[in-house]
Amino acid sequence: MSIVTLRRREMLIGASAAFIAPQLVLSAGAQSNLIVTPGQTEGPFYPVSFPADMDADLVRVQGQQAQALGQITHIAGRVLNKRGEAVRGAQVEIWQCDANGIYNHPRQPGLQRRDAAFQGYGRTEVAADGRYGFRTIRPVAYPGRTPHIHFKVHAPGAGRLTTQLYIAGEHQNATDGVLRGIRDAKARESVIVRLDPANDIEAGSLKGMFDIVLDL
Ligand SMILES: [Fe+2]
Repeated sequence: MSIVTLRRREMLIGASAAFIAPQLVLSAGAQSNLIVTPGQTEGPFYPVSFPADMDADLVRVQGQQAQALGQITHIAGRVLNKRGEAVRGAQVEIWQCDANGIYNHPRQPGLQRRDAAFQGYGRTEVAADGRYGFRTIRPVAYPGRTPHIHFKVHAPGAGRLTTQLYIAGEHQNATDGVLRGIRDAKARESVIVRLDPANDIEAGSLKGMFDIVLDL
């Protein structure tokens, strides 16, 4: 481990240290070999109207006692440019189906089975260092798709990226048409995230690191 890496780690506090991936440590230095996050289809379930509560905690809906069904999962990362610098002011949106595989969308078959305690959509603005984070549930498969979370990132004055995050080890990753549609192997790997136990953050939860690198 380099001195730079050690110093960088010493500067980090609390549970957030667990989210620092090696490439981010490298990005603090002079070199950067970051892979631009590939764009992927928005799909048919981007919200047509936004929920009243659309913060970065999708597990709790404001005004409801119930907590969303599913395994709580903390997704965190940074929005970076190709040089590994934070994209200041970027906004990150996510949306995904609930634990029953149901999106909050009028075109969703079986919408009456939706888990009303799952927010389904959230957005947040990155911190000054590009960092973002969401508390959500581990995505589940639904017919025709491997588990995934949809992302849309808006960079001020520089357009937006629409993409999807996948979970490492899911057997359906091998046959998912959208994921396989990313032809470059490294680009494909860059959107597959390993989930680890995150009892340090919250009992029984998972955490995953997803850095989003914009073509800037
Ligand atoms: Fe989807």
